[in-house]
Amino acid sequence: MTAHAPSRGDVAVLVPAAGLGTRLGPGAPKALRTLAGTPLLVHAARRLAAARSVGCLVVAAPPTDVTAVRDMLAEVATDLIVVAGGDTRQDSVARALAAVPAHFPIVLVHDAARALVPPALVERVAAAVRDGHDAVVPVLPVVDTIRTVDASEVALGTVDRSTLRAVQTPQGFRREVLAAAHEAAGEALTDDAGLAEALGVRVQCVPGDEAALKITRPFDLAIAELLLRP
Ligand code: CTP
Ligand code: MG
Repeated sequence: MTAHAPSRGDVAVLVPAAGLGTRLGPGAPKALRTLAGTPLLVHAARRLAAARSVGCLVVAAPPTDVTAVRDMLAEVATDLIVVAGGDTRQDSVARALAAVPAHFPIVLVHDAARALVPPALVERVAAAVRDGHDAVVPVLPVVDTIRTVDASEVALGTVDRSTLRAVQTPQGFRREVLAAAHEAAGEALTDDAGLAEALGVRVQCVPGDEAALKITRPFDLAIAELLLRP
């Protein structure tokens, strides 16, 4: 792999933010709920825009909140496009991808629910794509012992965790690779690298970051609040 200086603005980031947040409990769509007084989406967008490589954010918003989302992100220091999201995450990503201006060679996909993503992680993923990888995912080692079970919750065996990785976002792609993956997409998957893999694309893993945790349940929101304490 060759080293390149980070080039400003060659990356567009798609931000799926149209989910309901059912597992977080009753309330507004998850991306609009607050963490330390600021919507999760605003936290995420600020951190993405702070990465030098990022030249554009394309947000898939809850369909009834497109204008509100555009207003709340007016402060974010990069070009911004807001589209209405779809019924599934995959659909929301596809809609955002369709709105990316033509001149971005690298596209990242980042869940608004990973609100505290460090800009350095965004740069790490972008750099790996720039260095020639078609598809890149940030991963963490799995710390728990993982068992398989049968339908009655009887343990069947233990999986060798040394070969397992927990996958985060942002995931990065050569733009044509992500477009082809979504074009060919069949059954809905929970991430975009899975779609690329289904096409036979090699997916490269890079180190993730615990701060990029996905806020899914109330416990995760509490952890994120702690991380923001001065
Ligand atoms: N997402 C989206 N469009 C959907 C569903 C999800 O843009 N139709 C986004 C969410 O806003 C989130 C990311 O995809 O940023 C990951 O999804 P998840 O963590 O599952 O969020 P929700 O779907 O909102 O939560 P839940 O599954 O608990 O309802
Ligand atoms: Mg969901």
